[in-house]
Amino acid sequence: MVVIASPVYFYGISAELKAIVDRLHTPMRNEFKVKKLALLLVGAADLPELFDAIKLQYQLVLNFFHLEDAGMVLVRGVKDIGDIKGRKELEEAYNLGASIHDEIPCSVQQGKGDTSGLELLNHLDKLHTTELGVVRIKKNLSLDTDDVVVWCKDKISSAQAIITRSGKNWYINVDNFIITVNTHSYTIITAHREKR
Ligand SMILES: Cc1cc2nc3c(=O)[nH]c(=O)nc-3n(C[C@H](O)[C@H](O)[C@H](O)COP(=O)(O)O)c2cc1C
Repeated sequence: MVVIASPVYFYGISAELKAIVDRLHTPMRNEFKVKKLALLLVGAADLPELFDAIKLQYQLVLNFFHLEDAGMVLVRGVKDIGDIKGRKELEEAYNLGASIHDEIPCSVQQGKGDTSGLELLNHLDKLHTTELGVVRIKKNLSLDTDDVVVWCKDKISSAQAIITRSGKNWYINVDNFIITVNTHSYTIITAHREKR
């Protein structure tokens, strides 16, 4: 599954992204495991025809690679940072992400170019936290259990967990919780409820 996300630049996708798409024209394309594409676009104008050229190109690329369209979220009237806040299309994008997530096994998601999530899954036995961590996590999540480490391990290893690495931490999004784990020490730093 590949998601193409771009601003509209003169009725096309950005030149940077187009350069990447162009590099897919290689004999190796027969080896690609990709079965589906999705499309996310934002443009400043409100014109009905704003996305027409890109949609046509997208459809032709789908045909060329024999791919299925997993969905599109096309947003007009987005010019500056923050313009998209409160727009219903954000929910559409969220739902598209959720539909993709359901069909990709957890381990594969972690593997997308960044295998560090697998590293965490392979070393769950190293997970621990501090006394303060226990207090913080129990309070943040209103947990009933004293064994927050076991609780976190269960959550992290569940099929719904999405593990991303940023800086020195892993962030595990699961069941509307975000668990923060230090990548060097495997210390669970904190966990809190996702703000919606
Ligand atoms: C080079 C360039 C070309 C653009 N062309 C269009 C366009 O054809 N139609 C449109 O609605 N917006 C156009 N825009 C506006 C952008 O699509 C819009 O501001 C978008 O939110 C910018 O995303 P970015 O901040 O990631 O560049 C253009 C912006 C730039 C910089």
